[in-house]
Amino acid sequence: MTAQNSPVSPVTWKEDRVVLIDQNRLPQEYGVVEISRCEDMAEAIKTMIVRGAPAIGVAAAYGMYLGAREIETGDRTEFLAKLEEVGDLLRSTRPTAVNLFWAISRMLKTAEKTSGSVEQVQKTLLEMAKTIQAEDLQTCKDIGDKGLEVLPATPEKLNLLTHCNAGALATAGYGTALGVFRSAWREGRLGRVFADETRPRLQGAKLTTWECVQEGIPVTLIADNMAAHCMKLGMIHAVVVGADRIAANGDAANKIGTYSLAIVAKAHNVPFFVAAPLSTIDFELSDGSKIPIEQRDPVEMYQVGTTRICPVGVEFYNPAFDVTPAELISGIITEHGTVAPGALKQFQAKQLV
Ligand code: MRU
Repeated sequence: MTAQNSPVSPVTWKEDRVVLIDQNRLPQEYGVVEISRCEDMAEAIKTMIVRGAPAIGVAAAYGMYLGAREIETGDRTEFLAKLEEVGDLLRSTRPTAVNLFWAISRMLKTAEKTSGSVEQVQKTLLEMAKTIQAEDLQTCKDIGDKGLEVLPATPEKLNLLTHCNAGALATAGYGTALGVFRSAWREGRLGRVFADETRPRLQGAKLTTWECVQEGIPVTLIADNMAAHCMKLGMIHAVVVGADRIAANGDAANKIGTYSLAIVAKAHNVPFFVAAPLSTIDFELSDGSKIPIEQRDPVEMYQVGTTRICPVGVEFYNPAFDVTPAELISGIITEHGTVAPGALKQFQAKQLV
């Protein structure tokens, strides 16, 4: 793929199928996977061909349509019952990112509300999946611009650190944390992106740096354990990360390592922002201790590429996410503006359901 100036879209609807950028092959090669069946979409989410909370939500919405299309009945009641099963399959893929559950529930509600034939409901579901995708793209652009308003006023060119990939690849396009960086770049406020490599799957090293390089945004890769050192030397002016699920009190689950980054930022007086759409907020959970944390295959830890990096006989612990307590978060940047974590409730009525 050649360098380009606009962010990529990880999920594309093409005639009668979904085209996903295969994020497991980046940055070595750019390739796509075509998905026509709901089961294949569930597998693509599970194996992280598509990943990142809002992108999973968009992919699941199309997965619901693909599943709806496969249901062979003209009976509306039977159709809706089978659609619930499609929802169950997609829900079983990854437990932490609430956008997945939010999108499935929105698709199910759309089906229930749509009157007319099964065929009419199927058509409406495709339109709703496209709407969810279009809304997410606009939402990310709004997050980017709102984030710009709360970045430190000095220096003029900011060095901004992020963890994992909360970029175009993780959303419908543009990104949340990287959306803020893109807006800052556009306005001449970005000096450089610092990207944590993000062990064990290396989304920072592989995906965040790839996105920046595609668009000519200056980026420096650091290992996860270098952030404190860089902050002590004054090299980082703010941290912006994404989120997979934010509880009602502002505790935020994001890629493992985010919590320690927040502690390090606090210790160095570096502002620490979480950028996320309202679809990432789970108002039903009072605090972060109730957020389900995905445990992933130990192979992600013991193998780098094709090389085993530790002896046989070692045991593993591989939680994919951690929860950053609200008190470590300077502000949550949403499409409706930035608020203190404790003030999220004011947005509950604005959440699309
Ligand atoms: O396991 P992943 O790669 O899906 O985790 C992604 C993250 O943790 C992102 O930071 C989060 O989903 C926000 S994406 C805008």
